[in-house]
Amino acid sequence: MSDGGELVEFLRRLFERRSEQKERAGGPIRTLGILGSARNDGKTAALTSAVFQHLDDAAVIDLNDFSIDPYTYDSARGGDDFSALAQLMNEADAIVFASPVYWYSMSGPMKIFFDRLTDLTDHYKPIGKALAGKSAFLIATSNSPEAPACFEPPFADTARYFDMHWGGMLHAKFPDLQQLPADVAEHARTFAAAIQTATAVRAKAAA
Ligand SMILES: Cc1cc2nc3c(=O)[nH]c(=O)nc-3n(C[C@H](O)[C@H](O)[C@H](O)COP(=O)(O)O)c2cc1C
Repeated sequence: MSDGGELVEFLRRLFERRSEQKERAGGPIRTLGILGSARNDGKTAALTSAVFQHLDDAAVIDLNDFSIDPYTYDSARGGDDFSALAQLMNEADAIVFASPVYWYSMSGPMKIFFDRLTDLTDHYKPIGKALAGKSAFLIATSNSPEAPACFEPPFADTARYFDMHWGGMLHAKFPDLQQLPADVAEHARTFAAAIQTATAVRAKAAA
């Protein structure tokens, strides 16, 4: 959707997705989920939905739905969807990254997106500065009982680079896509409560 009418189309998709998740009236997106998996109906998407169903004023965007060019040192960027996503990050109080563990690290789509966060230090520097004080979280799935020790630090350190509060990671391994195990569902609910608290604290501070 990088050509004409991209923002309109972007918002249409976003609001469709929002209403799929929860029937709620529109309002500011306080919590923005950024899903980066090789499939939009996989385990990471399922765990993300289990968290977001408990959140008010929240929406998840799927990086697969957007055109994000890999980082280049060429300064003539801007023809893709990154700036629209950066704008959504700017408006949110909390950002929740969601990625499966692929070869001990974040997924390819998420890494491309993370490399482009470099734009928030130059092209879109005011947005990068405005991330300070927001909260960032991570949702992850893998086939191992724990995420590898090296998995969370790139997310946490990047958030801290932008002076964001690091809210931590929810990681789960589960066998069946159809039915989330009860303990995983409960962890998702607890994690959502932590996100909700973070956005409430920020909203109160801003009032
Ligand atoms: C390319 C690829 C690499 C993977 N690497 C790992 C890994 O290093 N460690 C692990 O525990 N699971 C690994 N897995 C399993 C996934 O992390 C796991 O199935 C995850 O829940 C998939 O999430 P998704 O449905 O959103 O893709 C890998 C799967 C794929 C497809």
